[in-house]
Amino acid sequence: MRALLIDPDVPSAIRLGTAPEPEPAPNQLLLDVRHISLNRGEVAFAARRPPGTVHGHDAAGVVVRAAADGTGPAVGAPVVAFGEGAWAERMAVDTTAVAEIPDGVDPADAAALPIAGVTALRTLRARPILGHRVLITGAAGGVGRYAVQLAALGGAHVIASVGSPARAEGLAELGADEVVIGLEGIDQPVDLILDTVGGPQLAAAWELLAPGGNVQNIGWASDEPAVFKPYSLFSIGPAKTMSTFGDVHKVGPDLATLLRFLATGRLKAEVSRRGPWEDVATAARDLLERRVAGKAVLDVTPATP
Ligand SMILES: NC(=O)c1ccc[n+]([C@@H]2O[C@H](COP(=O)([O-])OP(=O)(O)OC[C@H]3O[C@@H](n4cnc5c(N)ncnc54)[C@H](OP(=O)(O)O)[C@@H]3O)[C@@H](O)[C@H]2O)c1
Repeated sequence: MRALLIDPDVPSAIRLGTAPEPEPAPNQLLLDVRHISLNRGEVAFAARRPPGTVHGHDAAGVVVRAAADGTGPAVGAPVVAFGEGAWAERMAVDTTAVAEIPDGVDPADAAALPIAGVTALRTLRARPILGHRVLITGAAGGVGRYAVQLAALGGAHVIASVGSPARAEGLAELGADEVVIGLEGIDQPVDLILDTVGGPQLAAAWELLAPGGNVQNIGWASDEPAVFKPYSLFSIGPAKTMSTFGDVHKVGPDLATLLRFLATGRLKAEVSRRGPWEDVATAARDLLERRVAGKAVLDVTPATP
């Protein structure tokens, strides 16, 4: 089958090639993949994986073989999936990491959801957000645009932080109450921070945290160190905390929730970049260079004879 493979010798370290057909375990279904989505981490760190690995984690397609253990959707069901080896014509995936795509939802939109959507959903559950102030950094990005919408849906006062005025576009319409450049103009403490940027901005954002507040350290797109001022991690009163995030266990029910929000118009997929998977190198470059607003989705096109 055709697949996007790790190759450190090509631009973006990802190229279209061929790979063996996947062999599903008893708890896995076989998916005929139609659409995939790119995530910054997958693109930025592709060269660190063994050459020849089938890359990617986000896919949408149609079930061609149901799981042998009887779990999960039946043959013919359209599903979104999260798992290893997603960027291929076929993918073997745990039935606990898929959800059926409801009528009316574009499968290409569904493909945008797994890593970015589940990350936004799960980190927003770190604290009660109804009526609370939530700061989302990297708000123009894949995780960020879902986090802004879901935080607004959950009743938060949403502060969306972006790197430049151009990247602020569309965030107010998605539900941001404030859109700020960096941390400029945030004049009251915040209860929860979803941070995808790291670096000096993370150290500065920590200073904005209310007593009892929490930072979800999702990512570090800046690739710069964060230096905390002496004693800045000391505070009187309810503890301020910073948490790591990397929980992708059994995402199926969360994918179903995100799909339901898409189907009912409460969430937009925010796919601003779409093309055939032959375009992976340019899509990856644009993502790394902060030229994708939201998600990049690629279509798994059939091989030309
Ligand atoms: N822990 C997990 O499980 C998990 C899950 C998903 C993602 N992540 C991580 O979270 C981060 C965001 O992921 P994503 O898919 O949302 O990425 P993305 O779509 O590329 O968005 C990243 C955002 O970071 C901002 N940014 C600020 N400084 C930057 C810099 N120096 N270089 C590049 N971007 C910078 C950009 O904002 P502006 O464009 O406004 O400048 C950009 O919109 C990544 O580090 C990713 O690896 C972690």
